Amino acid sequence: MMHPNIPAPALEAPPVEPPTRDQSFFYHSIDLGDAGIIKGQFDLGPHLHNYWAGANFENQTVLEIGPASGFLTARLERAGGEVTALELAQGADWDVIPYRDWDSTEFKIARSTLQMQLRNSFWHTHNALSLDAKLLLGSVYNIPEAVGDFDCSTICAVLLHLRHPLEALEQVTARTKKQIVIAEPLPGECLDQETIDLLHGANRTGQSDALLQRIGQLSRAQLADPAALFFRPDHTTQAPKETWWSLPPAAIEAWLGVMGFRVDAFKLYLLEHDSTYAFHKPSGHQDRKTFHPYWSISATRVKG
Ligand SMILES: C[S@@+](CC[C@H](N)C(=O)[O-])C[C@H]1O[C@@H](n2cnc3c(N)ncnc32)[C@H](O)[C@@H]1O
Repeated sequence: MMHPNIPAPALEAPPVEPPTRDQSFFYHSIDLGDAGIIKGQFDLGPHLHNYWAGANFENQTVLEIGPASGFLTARLERAGGEVTALELAQGADWDVIPYRDWDSTEFKIARSTLQMQLRNSFWHTHNALSLDAKLLLGSVYNIPEAVGDFDCSTICAVLLHLRHPLEALEQVTARTKKQIVIAEPLPGECLDQETIDLLHGANRTGQSDALLQRIGQLSRAQLADPAALFFRPDHTTQAPKETWWSLPPAAIEAWLGVMGFRVDAFKLYLLEHDSTYAFHKPSGHQDRKTFHPYWSISATRVKG
């Protein structure tokens, strides 16, 4: 194991007093029934079929990495899954980029507070929707055998934020008996110029119809899809602060092959990000919607 200092995940009991909405930060938009509708950065509801690459979770045990506000947890449960979510423990910080001449102290304190509010949002959702899902607190970098094995796992919009995405995936696949679902933003480098122009236009005007149509027509074979990772931190601008990689699907497919998995479903689709609800707003930030092509794959264990 490469991270012997990261403690094994521990089960967190649901708080006796569930956190209030004010104590929570919502990453996902979510309808909490009597507790109301909450707006977050991503409204994944209309995209679930694509986001999970069409996977079926009925009567499956599911390990969900990085549940954030629990929208996907709730929907996995509604889809018939018996869910165990794994979220960062208090004190196990995000992989913030260690720019040499940047004092990250304040950022890390703010991040740690946000993680607490994010865990609160999970328990708020859990309580409002009377979920059965269990929550493990730890890190994806250390998922020992004692955690148990699961029929399925999901790791969506997490790998880009990790310094060691391949190692994380190795940990998750080791606990996955049958099927893994992965979703990630598609690197711009994978797109042709026509689509890039439509993307820029949509992000400028807020109108996404032409882009939506284009993304809907694109097949995987039309993508530039190298088995490579694109490294995002730029020391000259000290941005981004907490995103390491853009990951083409071919890179993840190749690594999944090494782990004994075969990709059997691929989806390409468009998500809207509403930055009004973002935590980190660098200088010059404007609250607005932006559009992001995403890919998802579902892969089945074929070896060991
Ligand atoms: C961008 S959010 C994605 C949330 C959700 N999976 C989705 O697809 O909408 C990333 C999630 O991964 C979690 N995360 C980040 N680093 C992690 C780590 N080392 N171990 C476990 N979870 C981590 C974050 O706390 C957050 O819940």
